[in-house]
Amino acid sequence: MSGRTDAAFTSAVTPIALEAGSLLRSYYRRGVATEYKGDVDLVTEADRASEKLIVDRLNKLFPEHGVYGEEGTRSQIESEYRWYIDPLDGTTNFAHGFPAFCVSMGLERRPPSLAPDEDGELVAGIIYDPLRDELFSAEKGKGAYLNGEPIHASKTAHLAESLLATGFPSRKRHDNPNIHFYQEFTLRSHGVRRAGSAALDLAYTACGRIDAYWEFNLNPWDTAAGVLLVTEAGGSATTFAGSPFLLDSREVLATNGLLRDEITALFANMFAGRDLEPIPTPAEFAAKRAAHSRK
Ligand code: IPD
Ligand code: CA
Ligand code: CA
Repeated sequence: MSGRTDAAFTSAVTPIALEAGSLLRSYYRRGVATEYKGDVDLVTEADRASEKLIVDRLNKLFPEHGVYGEEGTRSQIESEYRWYIDPLDGTTNFAHGFPAFCVSMGLERRPPSLAPDEDGELVAGIIYDPLRDELFSAEKGKGAYLNGEPIHASKTAHLAESLLATGFPSRKRHDNPNIHFYQEFTLRSHGVRRAGSAALDLAYTACGRIDAYWEFNLNPWDTAAGVLLVTEAGGSATTFAGSPFLLDSREVLATNGLLRDEITALFANMFAGRDLEPIPTPAEFAAKRAAHSRK
């Protein structure tokens, strides 16, 4: 759209995020039937209706922009601007009546000279939690906001004093080592939350409710908006090795910046097989418990 600066994107799409959020809220209150996309990967009518609403509105507002949505939208993907849409992040929570889900919309600018496998620049991000009426927004170089007020990543400087978050994939669950990371980080911090919405985990890192968040196997629609929120709030977004986050990294480590090196060092040690605290097996624990009860 000629004459529009990047700074105008989030205000232009805020009504879309609010409308999609309100749609999700009404489905949530009414209750919806759930279907399976994979063995435990859920989808509902609300996911599809929210994506349709967002795509219709975006097409009207920015007819020349591309849209890449979780529920299948792939339109004008060659455009200079590309929206990554998660129309309902936290579907499992939503389907069970657990109140933690949101709408996520992230905008990438891809100059025409960019190779197809190169990342452009994240320029805008909006995450809306319709149950708490919390709208997180960020624009490149303009800071991050919650309901219009500036937000900042936390000042926690040591892992031992931090509150963390992570998530577990719903596909290929058997192949994933995250339970080991969950265990180690739980032992070395104030705790690790698993609330079930990657976009909210990133938004919460941006506003300091948690100090760092990591997850394996995410997609760009989960991360695009939240990563920009974190970096605009003064935090860091990298791979587990500490290299810059890429949309197809399929791993994300978001921190307040101060914890990045301590966490990447622990990741490196764990991937090398060091620094692992043994976990008692259930059988060992049961034997100890039985011995204790005989006393
Ligand atoms: C999921 C959520 C969850 C994360 C999963 C995601 P969805 O997204 O963000 O927290 O652990 O990996 O797939 O399927 O609810 O949009
Ligand atoms: Ca998601
Ligand atoms: Ca989703």
